Amino acid sequence: MTTLLGIAGSLRRRSYNRALLEAAATLMPDGARLEVAGIDGIPLYDGDAEAADGVPAAVAALKARLAAADGLLLATPEYNNGIPGAFKNAVDWLSRPPDDVARLFAGRPVAVIGATPGGMGTVLAQDAWLPVLRALKTRPWYEGRLMVSGVQRRFDDEGRLTDDDLRESLSRFLTGFVGFVRGARAAD
Ligand code: FNR
Repeated sequence: MTTLLGIAGSLRRRSYNRALLEAAATLMPDGARLEVAGIDGIPLYDGDAEAADGVPAAVAALKARLAAADGLLLATPEYNNGIPGAFKNAVDWLSRPPDDVARLFAGRPVAVIGATPGGMGTVLAQDAWLPVLRALKTRPWYEGRLMVSGVQRRFDDEGRLTDDDLRESLSRFLTGFVGFVRGARAAD
């Protein structure tokens, strides 16, 4: 079984990026599954708090889920043409302590998707993740892209995917990324 951990980078209860991951979990190819995670309960990074208490429980739990996964799928909102602070903060916490970067991130296959009511599909936020993924020594997947514009027209009020074209492109994206994850794991 190939396991992906999908992290939705929004705290909003009715987050479209979370809905996108929930839809993705139902469209995984055979022999693969997607676990959906959030960033709730993660405090602002504070080096003094880390020195005193180590990583918070919510961070430790997410780190354990990431360590158990074969690949990581980030579903990013875009704020002011960049990465939302809460999402970056969560990944910064995941990278602590520094000795854990090798265990959790180095060589790990990662893909980025995102959804917005706007017209640019989170392209700038997705690109803004690239230097972060490089700093963490991950193995980003570049062959597929999924930028969801006008997302409010593609999900219903309960957060269910209603758009057949998006269902197809999401499914194709997942098949491609799972193939990449399997190839990367076989080469390790
Ligand atoms: C936004 N939004 C937004 N959208 C976009 O496509 N490009 C942008 O630069 C911004 N900027 C931005 C700044 C701030 C401060 C907020 C609060 C919002 C809109 C954003 O895409 C929208 O709120 C999404 O619904 C956020 O994703 P979730 O929470 O639905 O997953």
